[in-house]
Amino acid sequence: MKLVFATHNEHKLNEVQRMLPKEITLLTLDEIGCFEDIPETSNTIEGNAIQKALYIKEKYGYDTFADDTGLEVVALDNAPGVYSARYAGEAKDNEANIDLLLANMKDKQERQAQFKTIFALCLGEDLHTFEGIVRGEITHERKGEGGFGYDAVFLPEGYADTFAQMSADQKNSISHRGRALQKLTAFLREVEIKK
Ligand code: IMP
Repeated sequence: MKLVFATHNEHKLNEVQRMLPKEITLLTLDEIGCFEDIPETSNTIEGNAIQKALYIKEKYGYDTFADDTGLEVVALDNAPGVYSARYAGEAKDNEANIDLLLANMKDKQERQAQFKTIFALCLGEDLHTFEGIVRGEITHERKGEGGFGYDAVFLPEGYADTFAQMSADQKNSISHRGRALQKLTAFLREVEIKK
């Protein structure tokens, strides 16, 4: 089965590629000739994931999956949420986003947060969604060099290391995206078996 993963983010592409079963051939946006930004104008995580998958399916005709992720921080009324990438402005600067988050969390005792990922899959005429959540807390300072986005300040529940201190495999095995992708993968395996 050939599927497009609707992302221009090289890091996510690699992360997802490692986790997909061999039966699935991943097509990148470059490979299908899509070089433009894909619109994501919804005010929900789920809405954005669906919008991105539908955009590729309708414009390029390929079965497609897309994801959208948000960091929801309890003490900030679930901000930055769907605006996680642009928290500190349109430049989508990860370091500026972390600086702003740490500043807004400076005096907060309540540090609970979660990452939420939704994968939307357009397969044939059908649309399916898969959710993955990982709970944890926001640290007081950056820890670790790996990963991307808010990884350096997110400590998953039950672990002593932030996502940025973990290996890619360890992060993937417990992460929001990993969990949502496991559900997507299980679904795709079922579809393949029934063929
Ligand atoms: P996207 O919807 O996957 O592009 O994610 C939106 C934003 O959430 C990104 O720009 C990152 O700041 C953040 N983000 C998404 N996934 C992760 C992750 O696995 N670790 C840390 N931050 C993430």
